[in-house]
Amino acid sequence: MFLRCFMWIFLISDCIAIRTKIRTKTGKIEGFTQSVLSKEVKTFLGIPFAEPPIGDLRFKEPLPVDKWQNIKQTKACQKACSQPEAFGTAVPVENQSEDCLYLNAWVPQGGSKQKHAMIWIYFGGFIVGDIQRNDGKVLAASADVIVFTLSYRTGPLGFLYLNDTGAPGNMGLMDQGLAIERIYNNIKRFGGNRKKITLFGQSAGAASINYHMFSSVTQRYFQKAIIMSAAADSYFTYHSPEVALDTGIAFATEVGCKESTVEGTLQCLRSLNASMLSTLQLPPNPKPPVFFRSHLPTVDALSFVSEPPAELLKDPFSIRPIPLLVGAVKNELSFFITYFVGVLQIPINVLDGIITRDEFFDLIPLTLDASNETLKVIADYYLAPYMPGEPPSYIDVLNDIGSDINFRCPVIEIAKTYFPHAKL
Ligand SMILES: *[C@@H]1O[C@H](CO)[C@@H](O)[C@H](O)[C@H]1NC(C)=O
Ligand SMILES: *[C@@H]1O[C@H](CO)[C@@H](O)[C@H](O)[C@H]1NC(C)=O
Ligand SMILES: *[C@@H]1O[C@H](CO)[C@@H](O)[C@H](O)[C@H]1NC(C)=O
Ligand SMILES: *[C@@H]1O[C@H](CO)[C@@H](O)[C@H](O)[C@H]1NC(C)=O
Repeated sequence: MFLRCFMWIFLISDCIAIRTKIRTKTGKIEGFTQSVLSKEVKTFLGIPFAEPPIGDLRFKEPLPVDKWQNIKQTKACQKACSQPEAFGTAVPVENQSEDCLYLNAWVPQGGSKQKHAMIWIYFGGFIVGDIQRNDGKVLAASADVIVFTLSYRTGPLGFLYLNDTGAPGNMGLMDQGLAIERIYNNIKRFGGNRKKITLFGQSAGAASINYHMFSSVTQRYFQKAIIMSAAADSYFTYHSPEVALDTGIAFATEVGCKESTVEGTLQCLRSLNASMLSTLQLPPNPKPPVFFRSHLPTVDALSFVSEPPAELLKDPFSIRPIPLLVGAVKNELSFFITYFVGVLQIPINVLDGIITRDEFFDLIPLTLDASNETLKVIADYYLAPYMPGEPPSYIDVLNDIGSDINFRCPVIEIAKTYFPHAKL
């Protein structure tokens, strides 16, 4: 083998390249090899899995990518999906594109045969997110697993819902589903096994995984899941169809595209530029909590998500018991408190981690969209253990309230639902 390789060097000049081609079911790809933790990791960046969702395909369900004839070079990460600057994760506009449905793969060499594959789904509140800064090489090398990262549309481009096949809602989840199916169908050629596929993700990525666990379309393409700090049934990961439709129509109106017919509205929305549309999804004067103005997963017009998550959690037919690891990020809300206080220009300094009792009550509406009476009941409940004194830190209590409502409780519900099915 070595000798053959050695000779090839002179004949073809690029021995490494010979060994980093894979014939996928849609065509050949050529990546590169890099050394990570003294292991060789075959790397493929920018593998297309869908037709570019541009022009007439904007807002539509993704179409599987056409077969290609020549060898596709997959050595550089493709651009991130169009997105606004939000949550401090700003991807520069020049690194964004509406043509963004690609996946990356890191395949460690040596070690076990028929490796496990792990598919990462990024976070970002269904508003932002990118695979450019999620490098899977260290995980691949250290855990001897094939790591994939996939991209999906966010914001109106990924989740606009007009109750019509032209904008069915959940396009971003369908992007993920198509990528997962492609990985499943090609996994052998990467050195993996169809029966050893795990999805993992955090926040919006975790909620997405929860949707795939329920989805009759995607649940057959993976066997295990790691859900970090979010679930499908939460305030920032689901809109009822009524709210999703209101959000869609309000958005179309705001950008001057509301027409008497859905087709007319869509035609206008398709004529605007993608970076403008994704920027305008964040209103200039957002009402807290900012999340609730965004385009989110819903019960879509194509039944990718067939029922509200709260119903799916109760429906034994939608629950496929699988090995599941769930958890939550400690102090999840501290990031969002800082973010909201900045965006809404609230004159309270939270950066030193100290707030007064009055400031605590001023900030509670950031955690939940509820009446003042409800918020007061919640606050009293969390302060009760310290009565008649004061809690050591009001910001910690605020953090607990917001983290419980938005992240921890939904995750605990998932654990409770699946635990009775666990084989221990
Ligand atoms: C933008 O893309 C360039 C070229 O791919 C890359 O070097 C740079 O790190 C990217 N910037 C960010 C902030 O992702
Ligand atoms: C969506 O359209 C269907 C069929 O026209 C209708 O029954 C349903 O109520 C609509 N959903 C919403 C949220 O308006
Ligand atoms: C999109 O619109 C913005 C604002 O008008 C402009 O700066 C940008 O160049 C446009 N992008 C494209 C790709 O046309
Ligand atoms: C809740 O209380 C705040 C501050 O006292 C007040 O500005 C706001 O209007 C109240 N909201 C509602 C819905 O009553």
